[in-house]
Amino acid sequence: MNTKIINYIKQQPPIYFKSSKAFWDDEHISKSMLKAHLNTDTDGASRKLDTIQKSVEWIYHCCQNVQNKKLLDLGCGAGIYSELLYDKGFSVTGIDFSKRSIEYAQNHAKETARKIQYYYQDYLNINYENEFDIVILIYCDFGVLSPQNRTILLTKIKKALKKDGILILDVFNSCYLNSFEIMQNIKYEKYGFWSAEPHIIIQRNQYYKKTKNTLEQYIIITENDCECFNIWNQIYSPNTFTEELKLAGFKIIDIYDDVKGTHFTGQSETICGIFKT
Ligand SMILES: C[S@@+](CC[C@H](N)C(=O)[O-])C[C@H]1O[C@@H](n2cnc3c(N)ncnc32)[C@H](O)[C@@H]1O
Repeated sequence: MNTKIINYIKQQPPIYFKSSKAFWDDEHISKSMLKAHLNTDTDGASRKLDTIQKSVEWIYHCCQNVQNKKLLDLGCGAGIYSELLYDKGFSVTGIDFSKRSIEYAQNHAKETARKIQYYYQDYLNINYENEFDIVILIYCDFGVLSPQNRTILLTKIKKALKKDGILILDVFNSCYLNSFEIMQNIKYEKYGFWSAEPHIIIQRNQYYKKTKNTLEQYIIITENDCECFNIWNQIYSPNTFTEELKLAGFKIIDIYDDVKGTHFTGQSETICGIFKT
């Protein structure tokens, strides 16, 4: 156990080095995460409700001329976007690999008589062909994936989309680094987000300048165990973002400051792109 802790601390993890345990599907953490998803008063696991509503309006506006509006929501979480998009007339399929979130989304759709298809699946394993008019991947989750997995995902999305199908996704822009604090912090909690047992949280935020990757690392030490969660992201410029999508065979329709369709200034923490097959 001490060796485990020492190894986590002495290591500078290689880029996109995996967490020691599945993060989204952990029994306790997924409970904390669902709670965070459902709290739309702050930008936590999901964005604020007002932002989500504006995003849904904007996505609807972007898809005005799309005929069937069959939409795939990748990493749909608790289904907040999926439900609002369903209410706007989209035919929605949501995919997420948090069992707890998908079960919540399925139950909520049933209770509110919404016909949304939700699947508990890793979106890197989807296998649709020519099936959707629109795919969305929202809240900078694209950059969480390693470059290899991003290529796999874009190939699968392209295959899942119909001809002239639309992909909407957002990523972090360099302005995000202004609020990303490089730091180390140690905290004790009796019960918290990461564990239901008394635990120590060592948080380390690092920036890998050469490859423009952020790492939020959480080393969680309980009485009998120690886990290390690595949350990576990729910082993009408009050029690196659009080039990556072009390389995967997408055409650029436009880029914006955010998923609300704010005119692109480059001064925002995010870049949102609309692409076409
Ligand atoms: C930051 S949350 C965003 C949720 C939602 N898009 C939103 O903005 O409210 C990321 C979600 O993506 C899911 N996720 C991450 N990687 C995934 C993968 N490879 N396959 C399926 N779901 C994934 C997580 O379980 C989580 O619910």
